[in-house]
Amino acid sequence: MLNIRIEKTTCPKTKPGKDDPLVFGTIFTDHMFEVDYEEGKGWYDPRIVPYHPLSLDPSSMVFHYGQTMFEGLKAYKTEDGRVLLFRPDKNWERANRSNKRLCIPEIPRELFMEGLTQLVKLEKDWIPTKPGTSLYIRPFVIATDPFLGVRPSHTYKFMIITCPVGAYYESGLDPVKIWIEDDYVRAVRGGIGEAKTGGNYAASLASQVKAHEEGYAQVLWLDGVHRKYIEEVGAMNIFFKINGVVVTPELNGSILPGVTRDSAIELCKEWGIPVEERKISVDEVIKTAESGEMEECFGTGTAAVVSPVGELRYENEVMPIGGNKIGEVTQRIYDTITGIQLGKIKGPEGWSVEVK
Ligand code: COI
Repeated sequence: MLNIRIEKTTCPKTKPGKDDPLVFGTIFTDHMFEVDYEEGKGWYDPRIVPYHPLSLDPSSMVFHYGQTMFEGLKAYKTEDGRVLLFRPDKNWERANRSNKRLCIPEIPRELFMEGLTQLVKLEKDWIPTKPGTSLYIRPFVIATDPFLGVRPSHTYKFMIITCPVGAYYESGLDPVKIWIEDDYVRAVRGGIGEAKTGGNYAASLASQVKAHEEGYAQVLWLDGVHRKYIEEVGAMNIFFKINGVVVTPELNGSILPGVTRDSAIELCKEWGIPVEERKISVDEVIKTAESGEMEECFGTGTAAVVSPVGELRYENEVMPIGGNKIGEVTQRIYDTITGIQLGKIKGPEGWSVEVK
């Protein structure tokens, strides 16, 4: 087992009460995982230490050129008090695909998994148990060379922080309204769209502000070349159920390969629900929404889990979907994924990993 130095806090924070609101990403637990990297030396000094502000040189490369990667996964407490992670290997694999794209050194599996599990074990009393809550885990890497030239950094920090969270959207499991963006684009094939990195989210902000002003929760992106094919929502992958077939955009190099997306596809296949990963044009969305052939629309993501979409808007076209109610397949996927996450349903091999 990897030797991780543990320094416990001497002044633990007050944990939120059972009924306190857990607004996503606002409360952080007592400890964090931290490990450094230096070229020629590799990753060194893995440690779990009290959660603390960082002291970094203002010229640290991450601040200027965005060389960074992040991940998101959740820990759940079962009714009998066990702690479960949902498919953490998928996050490790994706972290290293993002790292490769961003010229960040690979993180060995043992370092990622041990950092993660030992931190979650130490913070297990922070895992909330109310329905819809969990401990969100945010692993991330930053480039730390104090240097203003453009090149990959020679030094990095890999850290993991955790926070107890409720629903990602204020509306919980009520359908959200989504704005299809017709002007800005998020990513193009060959760019960094399929990597989980800050720049993709920075690129989404101007459009998100516009969508919020219009009363929409999130932005649905079109492809950056034709401005025609549906891509993803940014915080979620998107699915449609059209004439009984579940359809989601194929992974084309500019879409994030979501762990929940993959899980939803696997479950539909297992249930015998036809599922297609293919190109979907915004014209097809408009046509099938208008004709009523579009029966359901939902997003999937670690933070959002499964979120029904009750309305899409493209330019001046407002498209209500599924009577603004959660659809049957959306509900089934939500119930099954959350059931597996909470240890109430046995999922496919390797989907639940117990932290002991
Ligand atoms: C996640 O679902 O874990 C994400 O990373 C989305 C995030 C932007 C909240």
